[in-house]
Amino acid sequence: MHILVTGAAGFIGTHVLAELLARGHEVRALDSLRPDVHRDGSPWQVVRGVEALIGDVRDRELVARAVKGVDAVIHLAAKVGLGVDIADMPDYASSNDVGTAELLVGMAEEGVSRLTLASSMVVYGEGFATCPEHGAVRPAPRRARDLAAGHFEPPCPHCGRPLASGLVGEDTPADPRNAYATSKLAQEFYAANWARATGGSVAMMRYHNVYGPGMPRDTPYAGVASIFTSALRRGEAPKVFEDGNQRRDFIHVGDIAAATVLACERHGEGVGAYNVGSGTPRTVGEMALALSRALGGPAPVVTGQYRLGDVRHITADSSRLRRELGWHPRVSFEKGMAEFAGLHPRTDAAPQAAGAGMKRAMTGGA
Ligand code: UD1
Repeated sequence: MHILVTGAAGFIGTHVLAELLARGHEVRALDSLRPDVHRDGSPWQVVRGVEALIGDVRDRELVARAVKGVDAVIHLAAKVGLGVDIADMPDYASSNDVGTAELLVGMAEEGVSRLTLASSMVVYGEGFATCPEHGAVRPAPRRARDLAAGHFEPPCPHCGRPLASGLVGEDTPADPRNAYATSKLAQEFYAANWARATGGSVAMMRYHNVYGPGMPRDTPYAGVASIFTSALRRGEAPKVFEDGNQRRDFIHVGDIAAATVLACERHGEGVGAYNVGSGTPRTVGEMALALSRALGGPAPVVTGQYRLGDVRHITADSSRLRRELGWHPRVSFEKGMAEFAGLHPRTDAAPQAAGAGMKRAMTGGA
């Protein structure tokens, strides 16, 4: 197929591009090289054989050129991360939602009917959890005063008892808890509206926590694996927020790229949402320890800090993707983290004994 990839110069985009080329597709790549992501301003090294366009998906004229003659679009261009503060809201709405709306207009005008959209697990909020008395419940947003007091687990909204969290399926109702999550959910709805109006198809890929080669470093939008390796590289202990027991599903970017390309090739009808996770949730504390050991760095420190927009646990049930599209993750947590640590060697020579466990420090808002 001839495929347009937006956000092609980004972390996930680079891997998607490579996967598409390896599978014999013809690729056109579009990226605005956002200065908050591409901070060093170095030129885009585009792979030979790929037609590259530099510009913003909100530019209607550029989008018209970008979609010309393609069979499908993989839309990755977005402002990512949790956001630094409330003033980021308009940029999320504009970059992610206006950008998607403009792209959909361009696709409709050109008659391009296949879309694969990068969405996120954050659309579920706290997902659902099980109360021993009330069964499956939706945890309420965590209160700042509970977090400040070190009560990190969201309680049952009916009786306040502790909850057991479960794997969220794609039909779990959405409950976005921050501007990024809200913008991702809006993208999904715009895409579904477009699909209904035009007869197009959309695969909405709800990515879990992605890590691997090329992951953004040292920006406010860097993911936790990258933040921890950067700290370890400086010889500092990774700072683990809350009590370190918050669960995530860390998935290698190569597996994400494979899932995205399979969805582009195989999801041909209607609107489909797919969770994309490894299926083996880990705590943030476990991840910090794995990286610290792999790099021979200082033991992680549990700080008790928190970010109000964070959800406690996000863990996906990705069986639909396996069942319907035949995708299987290939990189295990152990192998992926060891490889990731190897990509970030320490700059100072003296290795320190990796801690047998984690240390505790002060508490407070992050
Ligand atoms: C991440 C992605 C988001 C994606 C989502 C899908 C990033 C920046 N965010 O959000 O785009 O949609 O996964 O599930 O990649 N933490 C620490 N210490 C730190 C920084 C963070 O302990 O120095 C903790 C946070 O409190 C949180 C966890 O690590 O509990 C993950 O944080 P982060 O990497 O920012 O990702 P998410 O918020 O899960």
